[in-house]
Amino acid sequence: MSIEIHGRNEVERLRRAGKAAAETLAYVGRKLAPGITTAQIDAWVRSHTAQLGGKPSQLGYEGFPAAVCTSRNEVVCHGVPSPKVVLAEGDIINVDVTTMLGGFHGDTSATFMIGRVSDEARYVVEAARSCRDAGIAVVRHGARLGDIGAAIEETAKKLGCTVVRDFGGHGIGRRMHQGPHVAHTGVRGTGPRLRAGMAITVEPMVCLGRPEVRVLSDGWTVVTVDGSLSAQFEHTIVITEAGYEIMTVPPTGGAWAIQPERELELT
Ligand code: MF3
Ligand code: CO
Ligand code: CO
Repeated sequence: MSIEIHGRNEVERLRRAGKAAAETLAYVGRKLAPGITTAQIDAWVRSHTAQLGGKPSQLGYEGFPAAVCTSRNEVVCHGVPSPKVVLAEGDIINVDVTTMLGGFHGDTSATFMIGRVSDEARYVVEAARSCRDAGIAVVRHGARLGDIGAAIEETAKKLGCTVVRDFGGHGIGRRMHQGPHVAHTGVRGTGPRLRAGMAITVEPMVCLGRPEVRVLSDGWTVVTVDGSLSAQFEHTIVITEAGYEIMTVPPTGGAWAIQPERELELT
């Protein structure tokens, strides 16, 4: 199956959907604090997405029961919001927002640090962000899909972390998930060529320990088998002649860590 090439008009719609998703992510991130439940995050995502004129793409997707994925500590991805999951100081939590607006989807996530976190927790969060950015950095017209996974895998290795192999990024457009599958590990110079106008996500899940995962009995929540911490960051990007354009640029003032000593900007 060939990979869709989006035209100018479609890229403009991807930009709008991406901006909405990024705004909702930043909005939620600013409100996170000890004592907040992940069900509260779900409610915020629903109301904020509606306020922007969008729809949460994940709600009901293959039966997913919520508007957002909230994945805390050893949860790798697809954490289901619940009134029983209460954030505590020291937690790290990935919030994954996907918004449908004007017929197109924007998909972005960040891992937030709740108050003061351990050095290990901070390390894996910063490693995951570096891995995503290393994967994006090699993207340009004419590069290969495998270049992305290779860059991510090398970066993780250099940082002493591992990359989850069971889930990847994806093409995106009129559907939240479309081809190609974007592996977060791989071999440089392999795979289909990237072409200007293709839209994909880059969203590596990075672990401090082993990369093996299992799904809990709820059928959704993915956790590390060894219980080690995992973090993830995601952007939706469009390939351009010169490189790439990020569709999910966060608004200024968005923070992924709100802590007594310093605020770290979402990027
Ligand atoms: N936003 C997720 C992704 O990055 C999609 C999760 S599918 C769901 O691809 F059904 F779990 F929501
Ligand atoms: Co995605
Ligand atoms: Co996502």
